[in-house]
Amino acid sequence: MAPIDPHSFTDSSHPLTTHVALSLYLDFNTSIIHGSALLTLSSAFSGELSLDTRCISIAMVLDPLTLEPIPYSVSTTPDRIRGTEVVVVLSGQSSLLIVYSTSPSASALQWLSPLQTFSKLHPYVYTQCQAIHARSIFPCQDTPAARIRYDVVMNIPNSLSAVMSARHVRRRLAVPEEAKHLEAGSLGSSLWCGEDRVVEEFAMEQPIPPYLFAFAVGELGFREVGPRTRVYTESAAIEVLDAAALEFAGTEDMIKQGEKLFGDYEWERFDLLVLPPSFPYGGMENPRMVFLTPTVIKGDATGAQVVAHELAHSWTGNLITNINNEHFWLNEGFTTYAERRIVEVVQGADIATLNIGIGWRGLTDEMERFKDNLECTKLWNKQEGVDPDDVYSQVPYEKGFQFVLRIERQIGRTAFDEFLKKYIATFKFKSIDTNTFLEFLKANIPGIEKEINIQLWTEGVGIPEDAYEPVSTIYTKIISLAKEFKEGKMPSEDDVAEWNGQEWELYLENLPKSCEPSQVMALDKRYRLAESKDYEVKVSFLQLAVTSKCREYHGEVKKTLKEVGRMKYLRPLFTALAQSGGTEEKQLAKQVFAEARETYHPIAQGVVESILSKYI
Ligand code: BES
Ligand code: ZN
Repeated sequence: MAPIDPHSFTDSSHPLTTHVALSLYLDFNTSIIHGSALLTLSSAFSGELSLDTRCISIAMVLDPLTLEPIPYSVSTTPDRIRGTEVVVVLSGQSSLLIVYSTSPSASALQWLSPLQTFSKLHPYVYTQCQAIHARSIFPCQDTPAARIRYDVVMNIPNSLSAVMSARHVRRRLAVPEEAKHLEAGSLGSSLWCGEDRVVEEFAMEQPIPPYLFAFAVGELGFREVGPRTRVYTESAAIEVLDAAALEFAGTEDMIKQGEKLFGDYEWERFDLLVLPPSFPYGGMENPRMVFLTPTVIKGDATGAQVVAHELAHSWTGNLITNINNEHFWLNEGFTTYAERRIVEVVQGADIATLNIGIGWRGLTDEMERFKDNLECTKLWNKQEGVDPDDVYSQVPYEKGFQFVLRIERQIGRTAFDEFLKKYIATFKFKSIDTNTFLEFLKANIPGIEKEINIQLWTEGVGIPEDAYEPVSTIYTKIISLAKEFKEGKMPSEDDVAEWNGQEWELYLENLPKSCEPSQVMALDKRYRLAESKDYEVKVSFLQLAVTSKCREYHGEVKKTLKEVGRMKYLRPLFTALAQSGGTEEKQLAKQVFAEARETYHPIAQGVVESILSKYI
């Protein structure tokens, strides 16, 4: 008996799930899903088999062939990180049917009341399963070591429609027969076929890790932006849809570029869903249906950059997947590299270099953040007893990027491109660990271990000396302007004439962590950064304002924290407030969180809670 994943109860001696068939009844009145999950295992099994759940109540477990009950037990005390272990006792079955319901506090789900939506008329619900939240939607072996295909029959109000990280099969009327198990278990009888209900069916035919399971249900509309791409938003949010269609018009070009660099696009469709502002990430690479924050739509290059990143995951992350979160850099480091290769072609080398520069700054900042927790500065790091949401950082992205780039610099682009294609073709639809990658690297680039200190890169702390700080005229100029700010110099109108959001972001992130308040205010008076429509700029500035104790900005900080739920913005602002010595700042952090909490996704709620409890 040995765990295969520090974040799952799945045991290495157990067969893994290969297919899940779900029937889901979404009850917007109670924020509960009544569901049944038919799990198929890779082989028949006798004995105790562990499953992951979080806040799920099980009504019954059945043998789907005989309909006899299967004995099971539920652990009495949930693990803080992994949730509640459910042990089913199998006697030779290779499949089992679990009838259950979710909880209103399911960590993957955000239920929005009509008032929290754009239209104010219809409710909305969406998922975020990475890293370990799929288990709050259905009982499963919630580890990326398991790759599942899935079918879903989803029963929703007929005023709404559903999208998933899967192929849409059909929308149809509900049939009484299909509710048999649900109504014998967790769902009141005859609700399934209610007059105002409709069923949407989906199928995911390629094996994916459970964290890529995703859906959203709301009053959705879409526009075609390419032969395999639609953009979806709430249908009432016409302006958002229009702006999104413009912003993402270049998507097909990027897919073609991705195919050229990394091999065929294997997922058929590449649709984009723009979520409400509470979406906790910039983007999430759900296959066939990428989820995006609306904050990326601002008419410049960043929207396309986030799409390039999520698109790149179609190869690195979704085709080749980290076997567990200790190897997360295999997903994000390769994807950051692949993203920048796409950006380089579609937006030019200057923008790609600027992105590398912003990433470099982010990486050096993380070294400071983790100076007392050096484990988190390793690419391959131990995560026993560690909540992935708490240690989410730029390290796997940017140190991972640096390692991949280091290999490219060693062998040259042509050879590296060939290597990358072969790597993807060899391991597609597999979940692998760092060693598997390194073995492949050494086998295909003989002698590489003599040129690069591979162990230092993958298991060592900090940033290796042979990492690459980018050089370009604009990058160097911005860094030196940021240095001059310390001496009281402000960039001139001429200096910033050509700057977009990314240049400002790089500038602000390179200023000292805290500055003279009068200087910070003068900067804002001249360039109106606190009011920027670009959240990267606005939040970087507000963070500086808070750490510099410019209390004039507390109103703007509060407003910002109440209008968006993207953790990239919540983290620095709440940390700056909570970490600052001031009682006024701490008070503000507590007050804003109390007021905004309900509008955040449960994952963001947890992250802010853990920031506040650390400092307050
Ligand atoms: N897969 C990540 C988001 C994620 C990571 C969700 C870990 C949950 C746990 C996604 O691909 C990502 O990296 N998003 C970035 C986009 C950026 C790097 C362009 C984000 O959300 O900021
Ligand atoms: Zn990513």
